[in-house]
Amino acid sequence: MLWKQISRRKSLEHLIKEMAGEDRLQRVLGPIALTSLGIGAIIGSGIFVLTGKAAAQDAGPALMISFAIAAVGCALAAFCYAEFAAMAPVAGSAYTYAYTTLGELLAWIIGWDLILEYSMSCSVVASSWSGYLNELLGALGLWQIPPQLSLDPFTTKEVGGQVIQGVVNLPAAAITLLVTGVLVLGIRQSATTNALLVLVKLAVVVFVILVGWSFINPGNWHSLPVESRLIPEDPAEKWGLLGLLGLNERLLPLDERFRTPFTPYGLSGLMLGASIVFFAYIGFDAISTHSEEARRPQRDVPLGIIASLIICTILYIAVAATITGMVPYYQLDLHAPIAAAFSAEAQKTPTVALRLSTILVAAGGLAGLTSVLLVSFLSQARVFMAMARDGLLPRLFGEVHARFRTPHLATMLTGGVISIVAAVVPIQELAEMVNIGTLLAFVVVCAAVLILRIQRPDAERPFRCPAVYLIAPLGILVNVLLMLFLPLVTWGRLMFWLGAGLLIYYFYGRHHSVLGHELSDEIRQHGASPSDAPLKI
Ligand code: ALA
Repeated sequence: MLWKQISRRKSLEHLIKEMAGEDRLQRVLGPIALTSLGIGAIIGSGIFVLTGKAAAQDAGPALMISFAIAAVGCALAAFCYAEFAAMAPVAGSAYTYAYTTLGELLAWIIGWDLILEYSMSCSVVASSWSGYLNELLGALGLWQIPPQLSLDPFTTKEVGGQVIQGVVNLPAAAITLLVTGVLVLGIRQSATTNALLVLVKLAVVVFVILVGWSFINPGNWHSLPVESRLIPEDPAEKWGLLGLLGLNERLLPLDERFRTPFTPYGLSGLMLGASIVFFAYIGFDAISTHSEEARRPQRDVPLGIIASLIICTILYIAVAATITGMVPYYQLDLHAPIAAAFSAEAQKTPTVALRLSTILVAAGGLAGLTSVLLVSFLSQARVFMAMARDGLLPRLFGEVHARFRTPHLATMLTGGVISIVAAVVPIQELAEMVNIGTLLAFVVVCAAVLILRIQRPDAERPFRCPAVYLIAPLGILVNVLLMLFLPLVTWGRLMFWLGAGLLIYYFYGRHHSVLGHELSDEIRQHGASPSDAPLKI
């Protein structure tokens, strides 16, 4: 009985029939809006904030290679996402794909995991938002929000030699609520707002590369002595889970062999850097959660996914090369590395142009973070909605507003929870948790595409992942490898989150599953369910 419940799958035909139902979202998004949604979700805290720590403490100047490695994992998964999104252009992304291939329980786990990905990345981004707001106010010479009102109660900040404790991160909560309001009003407004923000942040990233290039000292890439690196307390910690599996003795000498001024932290640093900056790419998958709103999903969703990933990879590698060339990697600022690199230049040569550049970079960072918030929220609400429509979460979350045609209740619930979390919880390290959850989702998507090719070779595939028998297994391999470099504590949190999800499924989801009720009705009427047939997907 339990096995039947957890392994029941939706058929592809079932999905397509669902798409014709009444309570669906409007199909208003074209290829540019979709690519812009992708870039909107991608360029954010990862490049504007996390690059500082990843270069200073993990990868060194080889950060650009870490970006390339993370891009490989994402590109492999992107092709698989694209095939699936074109086949079944309904909201829900990896969750829906898993429901058609791997069964209800694994679909639930992935959906639950996607909720973690999108909601926690919103929290990380909202928290970085207050920091950038203060950067901008400071660069403009205006009043800055005091630490008590711009930091959560567990974080402190040193101001003029005095350590000040945060109370509540008000700007983080305010921006979250504002974004919620925009999203409840409708996708068309959201896409327009997003397109504007994307233009601003793209302009700023290109500006950073072009202007920053003239301040590069190539010696920062290849001539800094390896002894200047910041030595970690436990040298094995960069090997993540691998270090804990008792492999330390064998792995540590590998770092020594690999260590050069370009790769001061060895192989493990390079790989850990990749696992961390992976956060910067998260978001291209958000395009597939919007398949249901695409005008021509079969063509435009794969195009949007691949185009936004290519654009961002090129920009990221160029930004990584620029900032590690401008500033010795171990001196990079941990909170706002790009803005700080420019303000350091402005202090060396105080010209109006450089001061303006600092303002522009801070404003671009703010625009970038806002658009990530917009799209991640949007995706979170859509995953909720897909799960609610299937009965695995209360139906309330799946309701679409009669006039705005948006999943207003799911959006408001998400907005409310995330604004509270962003206001009072110290969330920086949760970025790693977002990464592990997303990597797991990528692994499942690669596996699901492969399974569906074997089970349903005849199904119509408007976009086919090229060389799928190579790309999908490689996608699984690279993304599992990136997961392995994340610390044990992150694995522990993932297990805790999944454990909570399993309890919800056991006590709620499996009893309310719409598919489950449909199958029981069929059995009552015909004596057997079509889903009893093997591999009927
Ligand atoms: N990729 C998104 C960011 O970097 C989540 O903020």
